[in-house]
Amino acid sequence: MSRFIIDGGYRLKGNVRISGSKNAALPILAATILMDGDTHLDNVPHLLDISSMIKMLEALGLRAEYKNDCKVRVSNYRKIRHIAPYELITAMRASFLVAGPILAKTGLAKIPFPGGCSIGARPVDIHLKGLKALGAEINIEHGFVSFKAKKLVGNKIFFDFPSVGATENVMMAATLAEGETVIENAAQEPEIVDLGRFLNKAGAKIEGLGTNVLHITGVDTLHGVNYSVIPDRIEAGTFLLAGAISKGEISLSGINLEHVQAVMSKMEDCGVRFSVESKGENEKVVHVKSGDSFKAVDISTRPFPGFPTDMQPQMMTFLTLAQGTSVISESVFENRFLHVNELQRMGADIEIKRNNAIVRGVSSLSGAEVKITDLRAGAALVLAALAADGTTEIYGLKHLKRGYAKFAEKLTALGAKVTSES
Ligand code: EPZ
Repeated sequence: MSRFIIDGGYRLKGNVRISGSKNAALPILAATILMDGDTHLDNVPHLLDISSMIKMLEALGLRAEYKNDCKVRVSNYRKIRHIAPYELITAMRASFLVAGPILAKTGLAKIPFPGGCSIGARPVDIHLKGLKALGAEINIEHGFVSFKAKKLVGNKIFFDFPSVGATENVMMAATLAEGETVIENAAQEPEIVDLGRFLNKAGAKIEGLGTNVLHITGVDTLHGVNYSVIPDRIEAGTFLLAGAISKGEISLSGINLEHVQAVMSKMEDCGVRFSVESKGENEKVVHVKSGDSFKAVDISTRPFPGFPTDMQPQMMTFLTLAQGTSVISESVFENRFLHVNELQRMGADIEIKRNNAIVRGVSSLSGAEVKITDLRAGAALVLAALAADGTTEIYGLKHLKRGYAKFAEKLTALGAKVTSES
């Protein structure tokens, strides 16, 4: 099994450039199904999940390929197939984001029912409720969800929970529907705003981006565009913590400060200090300077702009070494504490009570052999290894390759001792 071998105790120093956002690029790629012509995307991270979505687009009849490390070109000229291959949906559940676009474009869609994953059941009921409200007839049989709608018609929709994926799926479908759609209690994540800006550049009419009420006025067609994806706020948060937990001094470039406020604010409450330098027209560089100790804080994960669930495992690692006791409550997913066992094996003092983790700070972690269970748990274990006494062997790198581009290279360039063995 592929593994990282990390020698802990090295203070990170230097600058790291943050890659483009996986969770913005995935729905943007799905949205190209709606658009006639060529789309050129820039700042796309080179990741397994992006390659999976590219394979999905190819399977549906589009041409899609990486032009280089961070550019992707998609051409949409041929008739779209409306059946999504089972093996591609199971490879990555975010592929379910093609449902709304295929249905809006062709009037039909047949998508394998996406399974859950290690962090939760991951149902799609909110997606289905929204698409049904736009007039889709929906049948679930033989493990597939079949959608049918001669022409989608705009409607007013209320989401019981501000689901990111459901907001993206329904917003994309509504761009080609007849008339106006209003989505209330919509998700407000930066990735939704990026998708909406991309669609508007392609001729869509979406208002309210960045709020929890979206107004979409349907149009007849959308055209291909050139677009650059926002930076990855979760990779940025992960590196902010890498600088702090290693007691080093690093700077991050290519990040959007507004997207990392919740994480930076909590880290400041712990005693981490930041300074921001403006470089070029809108390039900000964030300098992380941590002392030799930091204080415990309580964390509750929330939809944006709250503390992101995708940063909960990494923040937990950081707090295992804080002075005092932290309580972390995970309110978004029902099973997102799989990293706790592995952190305990490295000497962390963590107690789970339902969806709360009580983290009592210890003076040090010790290197061990650990296994990655899911993407962000993997990032949490890498952070633990950077700070641990001795060597840590981290198995299951395939999870990390889904969401962190050139992770070992970036850490090594900052002075971490990371060997990667496939
Ligand atoms: C997106 O997943 C992200 N993935 C996740 O990031 C992220 O953790 C999540 O949003 C929350 O921010 C991508 O963008 C590709 P949700 P998504 O629909 O859309 C429940 C990572 O590490 N729910 O907002 O699946 C669901 O079970 C990944 O990069 C329903 O009940 O998230 C969960 O408890 C992990 N019914 C909660 O809502 C539905 O129809 C949040 O799910 C949909 C969701």
